[in-house]
Amino acid sequence: MSESSASINESSANEPPLANREQWSSRLVFILAATGSAVGLGNIWKFPYITGENGGGAFVLIYLFCIASIGIPIMMAEIMLGRRGRQDPVTTMKKLAKESGHSRSWGLLGWMGVIAGFLILSYYSVIAGWAMAYVPRMATGLFNGLEADGVNTVFSDLVSNPEGLIAWHTLFLFMTMAVVARGVRGGLEKAVTFLMPLLFILLVILIFYAMGTGHFKQGLTYLFTPDFSKITTEGILSAMGHAFFTLSLGMGAIMVYGSYLPSNTSIAKATIAVAFMDTLVALMAGMIIFPIVFANTLEPSAGPGLIFKTLPLAFGHMDYGTFFGTLFFILLVFAAWTSSISLIEPAITWGMKTFQISRLKTSFISGVLVWLLGLLTVFSFNLTSDFTITSTISTNYGEFVILKDATVFDFLDYLTSNIMLPLGGLMIAIYAGWLMKKKYSREELNINRFWYTIWLFLVRFIAPTMVIIVFLNAMGVVAFIRTIMGV
Ligand code: PHE
Repeated sequence: MSESSASINESSANEPPLANREQWSSRLVFILAATGSAVGLGNIWKFPYITGENGGGAFVLIYLFCIASIGIPIMMAEIMLGRRGRQDPVTTMKKLAKESGHSRSWGLLGWMGVIAGFLILSYYSVIAGWAMAYVPRMATGLFNGLEADGVNTVFSDLVSNPEGLIAWHTLFLFMTMAVVARGVRGGLEKAVTFLMPLLFILLVILIFYAMGTGHFKQGLTYLFTPDFSKITTEGILSAMGHAFFTLSLGMGAIMVYGSYLPSNTSIAKATIAVAFMDTLVALMAGMIIFPIVFANTLEPSAGPGLIFKTLPLAFGHMDYGTFFGTLFFILLVFAAWTSSISLIEPAITWGMKTFQISRLKTSFISGVLVWLLGLLTVFSFNLTSDFTITSTISTNYGEFVILKDATVFDFLDYLTSNIMLPLGGLMIAIYAGWLMKKKYSREELNINRFWYTIWLFLVRFIAPTMVIIVFLNAMGVVAFIRTIMGV
């Protein structure tokens, strides 16, 4: 199709003109939807296990620092670009670039997001499938009275059976695509309004359980006392990558949600609210998991199975554990569901527009593609678990491990969270901070001069510099330069 960056008004049948383009019904709904996107497996499944793999406190501190100094300003920037463009990420970027007199190649940023969304959803859906598989296991009381060994066996039986994993992956993906096919407003708004608060209440109940394990203090110490000797370059990279992942940044999800945002809502307040809730949920998950880990002499570094090995232990020993456990995994599935919808939404809006096909068809085709890709993750835990990649860069200064014994799943996760999302975020920061006319960003953000200056400083200097340094560092480049220069 011809490059119509200003295509809002000459839109196709799929893309209603601005005046009646789908919009959230209120600011609260936007906050809920964006929180729905942000809070997901990233908070409850991924945060605890990568914290455990990276030794606890120091990792958590770096992660929190990244949320505040990179995540929040970039989230504001991404919502802002979305709202100003009011299109799919590819078209939005082209349109905005044209508006400020820059190259249309900025559309590539949207493209990378679309691809990242596909890749992430492919494994996200498999893990969400694990959570679904735990619902009937909890409900039938399978874990009642089991000790660590028994619980571990249940987990390894699950992941070693590809057919089972495929079945759950299929079901979860079907649920996701069914909502997406009906449009974001349909079921999604209603689902988030009451499920999110319910999940929160359940986490509070679990914290009380964790307090009773006798190892609560040890858990908190692990989470909040930084020991920097445990932190590695890769650890810093994954803390930064996780800040992007958990806030759903850098791939257009929040941009698309922003495109449905009414023009009079405050982007800054919405961002702070979302980032706050997201961080709170992650920290609560950590405060639940680690006391259970220590009380049962489990390994914090157990990897992706961590919550599936710890939480059932708690539920299995707790009054009404069957009930709470079942409810917990149901809510976890819902949290994953509201995130997965946003993972594929950029691809859907883009596909509809580019190929001029209906939302339903686009959803179907994307669903099939993601399903196929997901098989790679399914097999990473069984058939192809021995197929691993190790990648190192060696310099005179030392050996830099980029990936170690990574399965295809590990590789996909690394590629998306640690590379594609930060790269997307970096480009968003550069665009919003340096290339977009200040007049436009001020107009969209609509905050006073003081806060605007702080925001501009963060997106112009701090966020890009930090992303670049972490990247270079992770690639061993800094070490390399030092070697060459002999310092
Ligand atoms: N933020 C989601 C989570 O924490 C995952 C996600 C990443 C969703 C990127 C959308 C975009 O689970």
